Amino acid sequence: MDRFIDVAVEQFARDHTEPETDLYTRLREETYREMDRPEMQVDLIEGRFLKMLVRLTGARLILELGMFTGYSALMMAEGLPEGGRLITCEIDPKAEAIARRYFAESPHGDKITIRMGPALETIKTLTGPLDLIFIDADKSNYANYYEACLPLLKTGGLIVADNVLWSGKVLHPNDANDLAIVAFNHLVQSDPRVENVCLTVRDGMMLAWKRR
Ligand SMILES: C[S@@+](CC[C@H](N)C(=O)[O-])C[C@H]1O[C@@H](n2cnc3c(N)ncnc32)[C@H](O)[C@@H]1O
Repeated sequence: MDRFIDVAVEQFARDHTEPETDLYTRLREETYREMDRPEMQVDLIEGRFLKMLVRLTGARLILELGMFTGYSALMMAEGLPEGGRLITCEIDPKAEAIARRYFAESPHGDKITIRMGPALETIKTLTGPLDLIFIDADKSNYANYYEACLPLLKTGGLIVADNVLWSGKVLHPNDANDLAIVAFNHLVQSDPRVENVCLTVRDGMMLAWKRR
């Protein structure tokens, strides 16, 4: 993944962000040791930003699409109050096994429910209202996830989508994933149901607030 920010500037930002605990460091190290494409994991700044969004919105029920080894799920769960819940979707059993071990170790792990299977199938089984939705699964389905989830989101709820700048490939889309990310950005930008901002955090984060 290409970085948009100067490496030293980004390090400064990381040094002035609530640090990871040892559990997150170990989770990151194991993910980089054991998993293909470990860079899919959110980094410290994005993780802490997600936690901050949970705190600021007062979210109590969160849906995550794309758990991987659980870093972003744990970060968001940390921001949830007692009794808050996060449902997270994944299809890869190897990622699931790692996530489950770290969730078991964390004081926030019992707020998390893992739903294995294609996320679009899991969404069909859910009833809202959801307070916050984090879209970070397969890029080709971003628009489908958005359309399937928006009706479940409460008015005033927030959708957050990761990788919306796609290493800059949104400027010169070449393959199906590039085009899907571009289409997703257009969809949100032209949707009267939301107010949105596209942030240059890490690989780009789209925030869409549901107005009705
Ligand atoms: C970018 S990673 C998620 C990273 C994670 N949020 C983190 O910070 O560690 C995307 C994940 O979505 C999963 N995935 C892909 N297609 C899926 C689908 N149809 N339903 C559910 N999960 C899917 C992949 O197995 C992968 O683990």
